[in-house]
Amino acid sequence: MAQVLVLGSANADLVVSVPRRPAGGETVLGSDTVVLPGGKGANTAVAAARAGGRVALLGAVGDDGNGALLRRSLEGAGVDAALVAVSRRPTGAAYIAVTPDGENSIVVAPGANADVVAEAPWGRFAVLVCSLEVPVPVVEEAVRAASAAGVRVVLNLSPVVGVAPDVLAALDPLVVNEHEAAELAPSFEGLLELGPRAVVVTLGARGAAVVTRSGVLEAPAPEVDVVDTTGAGDAFAGALAVRLAEGRELVDAVRFAVRVAAFSVTRAGAQPSYPTLAELGGP
Ligand code: RIB
Ligand code: NA
Repeated sequence: MAQVLVLGSANADLVVSVPRRPAGGETVLGSDTVVLPGGKGANTAVAAARAGGRVALLGAVGDDGNGALLRRSLEGAGVDAALVAVSRRPTGAAYIAVTPDGENSIVVAPGANADVVAEAPWGRFAVLVCSLEVPVPVVEEAVRAASAAGVRVVLNLSPVVGVAPDVLAALDPLVVNEHEAAELAPSFEGLLELGPRAVVVTLGARGAAVVTRSGVLEAPAPEVDVVDTTGAGDAFAGALAVRLAEGRELVDAVRFAVRVAAFSVTRAGAQPSYPTLAELGGP
């Protein structure tokens, strides 16, 4: 089985459905609060495990009910949570408003995620996949240590932050969505000039694009009824990492990740919405 290490956040997602996003100074009444396991790191780990990977999460949660909620979700999906530390801060929380079109806006309170450390038996994994809701220096240290140990590194540069050039150069691939891509470079080809060996740009309902020095290849998405797009990018990163760890070509892995992400938007929440291989209708 493929060995994937995920470094990233674990948050309790406090989700409220709203008819529309409030403007500054405005109050909008929404649904009851639903508390779901989330956070980009934990989401990626759960998606990867459901997609057939052997997965561990490197992260941190608080000694509280939300931390227990996260551990239950990770363990339920078969993710190894031995590298999830217990912090004195509260478990990270994400305040998520979902509108009827399935779009969301999110405020994250990092809490325990600030205490994640870059310590893991790197050499045991085929792929490390990171996202940026944990401190940048920790991600940079992890990428350097994993690369030095011969591990393939995938970085989901979400949210966009400045990352050291040698770290960008170690990525295979760098993963960004369209908005993040536009923040980073004026064109897809421009993204390669940041140094990564390859770039994958997720295109929402349109699928994803694979950008390498030999050109741009598109992987279109199936048409689906959108319920909730929260965590679709994390599902994509997890599924991609599993296929890469299995030794598949990048384009193949991206096609699979597009299917997993498309499935995830048809159900509510992040982790609870991720498909098993059986739900996808086979590998
Ligand atoms: O990418 C989606 C995730 O972002 C949510 O689960 C929320 O926790 C925020 O971290
Ligand atoms: Na979803």
